[in-house]
Amino acid sequence: MNVSPIAELNRLLDDGLSDIAGAPNSAAVEQLRVALLGRQGTVTAKLKLIGAQPLQLRREFGAAVNRIRDELANALAQRSAGVKEEERQAKIEAQKVDVTLPGRTRHAGSLHPVSRTLRRIEKIFTRAGFDVAYGPEIEDDFHNFEALNIPKNHPARAMHDTFYVSDETVLRTHTSPVQIRYLETHTPPVAVIAPGRVYRCDSDVTHTPMFHQVEGLAVDDDISFADLKGVLVFFLEEFFERELPVRFRPSFFPFTEPSAEVDMGCVFCEGQGCRICGHSGWIEVLGCGMVHTEVFRQVGIDNELYTGYAFGLGIERLAMLRYGVDDLRLFFENEVSFLQQFG
Ligand code: PHE
Repeated sequence: MNVSPIAELNRLLDDGLSDIAGAPNSAAVEQLRVALLGRQGTVTAKLKLIGAQPLQLRREFGAAVNRIRDELANALAQRSAGVKEEERQAKIEAQKVDVTLPGRTRHAGSLHPVSRTLRRIEKIFTRAGFDVAYGPEIEDDFHNFEALNIPKNHPARAMHDTFYVSDETVLRTHTSPVQIRYLETHTPPVAVIAPGRVYRCDSDVTHTPMFHQVEGLAVDDDISFADLKGVLVFFLEEFFERELPVRFRPSFFPFTEPSAEVDMGCVFCEGQGCRICGHSGWIEVLGCGMVHTEVFRQVGIDNELYTGYAFGLGIERLAMLRYGVDDLRLFFENEVSFLQQFG
């Protein structure tokens, strides 16, 4: 069939417009522009044919070619702007940030609450003039028991639930052997604290086989129970940053005489009585007393010239009271969510 040149031009226009409308992206639009209006383009080819038309058709043909070129150029420009906008939207969509997602941060480590508490205790006592000393965790029977006036078969040994490494070697059951080691190597006057791990074969809700103590020892020519009382009340009030009722209850330790256990007003109920303090209003925090003459004899210190006091406190217990932790086991499970609260 012979199609008229004008009809052919209109077809070219219709096809071009529908191709342009369907161009999915900038590259496709550009391809169409080249194919239609480029130097080798189909519309360009028609422009070149204007002069070759018979005279009576030339004006009409020329006007039509120019019209479809303009229309196509217009459609290309519009589509080009359209796909650019679509592409911009797609890019924004792809880069969208969900600001409600939790950030991917790095978590800085922090000191374990037991270490924190220990540092706090050391700071308070060093400010009061105490040295800090350490002793071995694997200890001999002499330092852990004998020199502390706990001879073999003494009933006090039963209280200690000792882990034996061998007949004569134990995992120290308390930090008191550091008293002996310190007095073996220093001459009075001395004032020292000795923090560290201790071990007892005991495990339930309120006991773990390993825990931490701080030992305190002061020996001089005029140390009295009043000094002991003064230093412990000072320590507790510094540690808890408040005035606290403190009471000394007579007790027994083989290596101190007299001996006492120290209670402080319950920090959870302000002494009203609660579950934590067993409804007594008081919480036991440490054991203490005046150094026994037998201990002085064991380390060769003249008990006519010198007196001293000693005390032992549990670090976990103080940490629990200070931070309001009600389960001892949390300190040893080391859940990150628990530890992070001490950052
Ligand atoms: N060593 C004792 C204990 O572990 C505590 C204590 C230390 C008591 C020093 C008196 C003097 O229970």
